Amino acid sequence: MFGWSNAYVAIVGLSLIVSVSLAAPECTRSEEYCQDRAMHPDLPEAPTATKSRAIEGENTNEYWREKATQHIKEKLSAELNKNKAKNIIFFLGDGMGVTTTSAARNLLGGEEKELSFERFPYTGMAKTYAVNKIVPDSACTATAYLCGVKAQEGTIGVIGSLDRSTCVDNEDTHVPSIAKWAIDAGKWSGLVTTTRVTHASPAGVYAHTSERDWENDQDVKNRCSDNEQNVHDIGYQLANNEVGSKLKVILGGGKRNFVDSGIESWGARVDGRNLIEEFKDANERNVYVDTVDQLLAVDVTQTDRLFGLFNTDHMKYRMENEEDTTEPSLEQMTRKAIEHLSQNENGYFLFIEGGRIDQAHHENWARMALNETTEFSSAIQAARDLTNEEDTLIVVSADHSHVFTYGGYGTRGQDVLDAAPSKAADGKPYMILNYANGPGYTLNFNSDAKERNDPTTVLTGSKHDRYPSGVPMGNDSHGGDDVPVFALGPWAHLFTGIYEQNTIPHIMAYAACLGEGHTMCSVESKQKK
Ligand SMILES: *[C@@H]1O[C@H](CO)[C@@H](O)[C@H](O)[C@H]1NC(C)=O
Ligand SMILES: *[C@@H]1O[C@H](CO)[C@@H](O)[C@H](O)[C@H]1NC(C)=O
Ligand SMILES: [Zn+2]
Repeated sequence: MFGWSNAYVAIVGLSLIVSVSLAAPECTRSEEYCQDRAMHPDLPEAPTATKSRAIEGENTNEYWREKATQHIKEKLSAELNKNKAKNIIFFLGDGMGVTTTSAARNLLGGEEKELSFERFPYTGMAKTYAVNKIVPDSACTATAYLCGVKAQEGTIGVIGSLDRSTCVDNEDTHVPSIAKWAIDAGKWSGLVTTTRVTHASPAGVYAHTSERDWENDQDVKNRCSDNEQNVHDIGYQLANNEVGSKLKVILGGGKRNFVDSGIESWGARVDGRNLIEEFKDANERNVYVDTVDQLLAVDVTQTDRLFGLFNTDHMKYRMENEEDTTEPSLEQMTRKAIEHLSQNENGYFLFIEGGRIDQAHHENWARMALNETTEFSSAIQAARDLTNEEDTLIVVSADHSHVFTYGGYGTRGQDVLDAAPSKAADGKPYMILNYANGPGYTLNFNSDAKERNDPTTVLTGSKHDRYPSGVPMGNDSHGGDDVPVFALGPWAHLFTGIYEQNTIPHIMAYAACLGEGHTMCSVESKQKK
């Protein structure tokens, strides 16, 4: 159901590529047989002799009935958790739609496996469209899932009437995030991401800007004239604005947006400032780190604010970060962030992003997108291990989907990154994973011969394999299908159903009984703890 519209686009796209005759060979059997075969060409003619099955017992009734019984028993014994949430952790898998989570299970050993967050007791679906777009970007969706209102594409933490790239910075346009609600309630707040800490999703925690691309002051100067220089870039806001300057943990990439290009060759600022040095100088208990070893060595009991920038740009993909690395994994950052924030007796709000699932999909790098998804899953498992569901609400979701499709009647036990078992109508293999659009078109289509290349000859098993796409584009587009929401802990049951994405922070605030102005808070929850 979820991937259907994407699959349809892909099929239409791919059928345009294949200009060879797609008319089915004449079928002389019964009408039922012929229709069924045309729709499911991969189904074998007759039971095959070789039985490949991932799990022993799957061919018995008992196996499936037992699994179903187990599920019902778990549901019946579950009690609603109506405690007041002390801590809230929101995990964002950027671009992690349902086809991505489903396909990623295969990397864990098979379709029957579960990503850590798929074991959470409550799930829902969020509608992601923006005020002015059917399919959104990471900026307006961050405004929705962190600030509780929908806005225009490209804008972060500002009202929906403000157009993108407008050179104004005026408090009337600002919309506060749940990080501010938490800080106002005496909680600590922090953010962790694998992208630049000034990138659209994490910026939703602290920034207010009409343009996601204004990550440093040079970016702003390119657009806004000098007399509009009260418009502050996102890096400046992280260092100086009301929420940014109070964050107790900031971990990720994007060093260049904090340092002047005259101070460091990799710096991108032009205002002469070094916001990293300013951070260190402000308080002797402010700790700045830029390697994994330094991060792991941080004594949180001696730390007020922890700032870690591990790359001048985005942090590396996990698969590009195997040797001689100085960068921590998302799980390592998650552990340190929770260790630090747990010291506050009033609790905390923590935003953690697996930010590069999205970027791998944009490149049609299916293998890397799925690997980033399993890395994200490991970080969530770590958070679950380090916290208690009696007082900590963990919510996992995505900002938007991608035009990523998962199809082709693969055989149980086979690698989801390989070709489907049967051939396409042009006699060549086709992949289980495809994109409706993106750069994977060029490699997989021979424009001189006007036919598809055999994908199994152009995809070599490399992490940089670009999976086939139906429409040539430099980057694939986001998808408009709803994204899943997974919840565990106090009031997690309120996340069931299908709702607008901007509902998410309101439910989180309700669970923790934050700020009367932002949410109704249940008396029941207020009384507890
Ligand atoms: C993801 O990639 C890393 C680095 O190559 C590797 O160690 C890890 O096993 C991969 N994860 C999965 C689930 O394949
Ligand atoms: C996709 O977009 C990114 C960011 O703009 C760019 O660096 C990359 O080269 C693009 N990919 C392709 C294949 O054009
Ligand atoms: Zn994207």
